[in-house]
Amino acid sequence: MSSFSTSVSPLPPLTDHHIVVGCGSACLDFLAAVASYPKPDEKIRSTNFKVQGGGNAGNAFTCAARLGLKPRLITKVANDSQGKGILNELQADGVDTSYIVVSEEGNSPFTYIIVDNQTRTRTCIHTPGDPPMVPEDLTESNLFSALGGARLVYFDARLHETALVIGEEAKRRGIPILLDAEKKREGLDSLLNLSSYVVCSMAFPQAFTNAPSIATALVSMLLKLPNIKFAIVTLGEEGCIMLERNLTEDLPYEEIEVDDLLEKLKQKKDNNAIAPTCISSSAFMLRAKGIGTIGGRLLVGMAEKIPSSELVDTTGAGDAFIGAVLYAICENMPPEKMLPFAAQVAAIACRALGARTGLPYHGDLRLASFLR
Ligand SMILES: Nc1ncnc2c1ncn2[C@@H]1O[C@H](COP(=O)(O)OP(=O)(O)O)[C@@H](O)[C@H]1O
Ligand SMILES: *[C@@H]1O[C@H](CO)[C@@H](O)[C@H](O)[C@H]1NC(C)=O
Ligand SMILES: *[C@@H]1O[C@H](CO)[C@@H](O)[C@H](O)[C@H]1NC(C)=O
Ligand SMILES: *[C@@H]1O[C@H](CO)[C@@H](O)[C@H](O)[C@H]1NC(C)=O
Ligand SMILES: *[C@@H]1O[C@H](CO)[C@@H](O)[C@H](O)[C@H]1NC(C)=O
Repeated sequence: MSSFSTSVSPLPPLTDHHIVVGCGSACLDFLAAVASYPKPDEKIRSTNFKVQGGGNAGNAFTCAARLGLKPRLITKVANDSQGKGILNELQADGVDTSYIVVSEEGNSPFTYIIVDNQTRTRTCIHTPGDPPMVPEDLTESNLFSALGGARLVYFDARLHETALVIGEEAKRRGIPILLDAEKKREGLDSLLNLSSYVVCSMAFPQAFTNAPSIATALVSMLLKLPNIKFAIVTLGEEGCIMLERNLTEDLPYEEIEVDDLLEKLKQKKDNNAIAPTCISSSAFMLRAKGIGTIGGRLLVGMAEKIPSSELVDTTGAGDAFIGAVLYAICENMPPEKMLPFAAQVAAIACRALGARTGLPYHGDLRLASFLR
């Protein structure tokens, strides 16, 4: 037993609103840690290895389940040994796999991941599952049953045709959607348009909007996507930036340049802090030059400063972060608490090889101060 497990949870009990439904990638990861990345034709040995479930949706939902949510995952695997392993592992972690489609033929999706200890990078080679999931794989009765009682829906923008069918039904039922926007993909624009919350990679906001900076790109995203309540950009060890929309009419009349506001917030950062913290502005009319103006506030979240000796593998850091954000939304956590909590969950996950090995459980004492 790890020293972190405890029979008496020090944390507040969970509310009832904990069913989340997701559609996206669940695969098998073949991880090899190497001292330094090989050159073409070179033969080297791994320093550590792991075969483990992966995929953005599979990882984010494993995180959410360990934190205490009840995730239902919609995806497709094949009836091969990998597929069976993927299902077993998800079930063992508390993810409801009863809506996962198992195809008789074909192959389950898998990924080779090389974790380079020298450059601290993780290089991925992904082979998609075949045959791919199509909306016809999900019957209407399964769709309705999956969404029954759901508090939140999550997409990683894979299997976009099926995700769109689920998203449109979620919208009809008033269930909010969180989207992981990593890069431009087919179908992503329609999913973004349905979403209430979006968590983006560092490059995405500017790729999506052509705006000159991250902050102006966030303003542009919220202007283009009227349903979005907040957008977060994760920046690895640099933490994250969040723009939360505010529709209140009586915001301070004077407009603020969003780039300037971000600079001001960054200057307030405590650079000696080890644990994740968050700095937030009050709500303003935020202006992005040449783009437009939006009512909202900006938050800057810090990542944990992980000692180099403890940083093992950042594979799945973003998925861990999102799993924690799903939990925070279900628990109605204010953003000032959500960002440090999500950063802490992600930092714990970075201390073990693979996307899932280090993911913490609800009773983990390392989370206690973030959940109070
Ligand atoms: N090296 C790191 N040290 C501390 N925290 C990290 C590190 N890498 C990632 N994180 C945490 O995980 C979050 C998501 O990481 P990021 O690398 O942006 O996502 P992705 O895994 O999708 O590329 C970050 O906002 C941060 O809180
Ligand atoms: C990883 O790199 C660090 C130095 O950055 C070194 O001390 C450590 O021994 C390396 N570990 C492996 C398994 O190669
Ligand atoms: C999967 O394969 C097993 C044999 O390995 C077979 O018994 C089972 O019916 C198959 N299931 C599906 C859904 O094809
Ligand atoms: C986005 O959603 C709105 C309704 O919220 C709809 O009117 C509009 O057509 C959609 N746009 C796209 C590009 O899907
Ligand atoms: C919007 O801003 C006003 C003024 O700062 C604040 O009172 C209100 O709680 C904010 N609403 C949201 C949804 O953030």
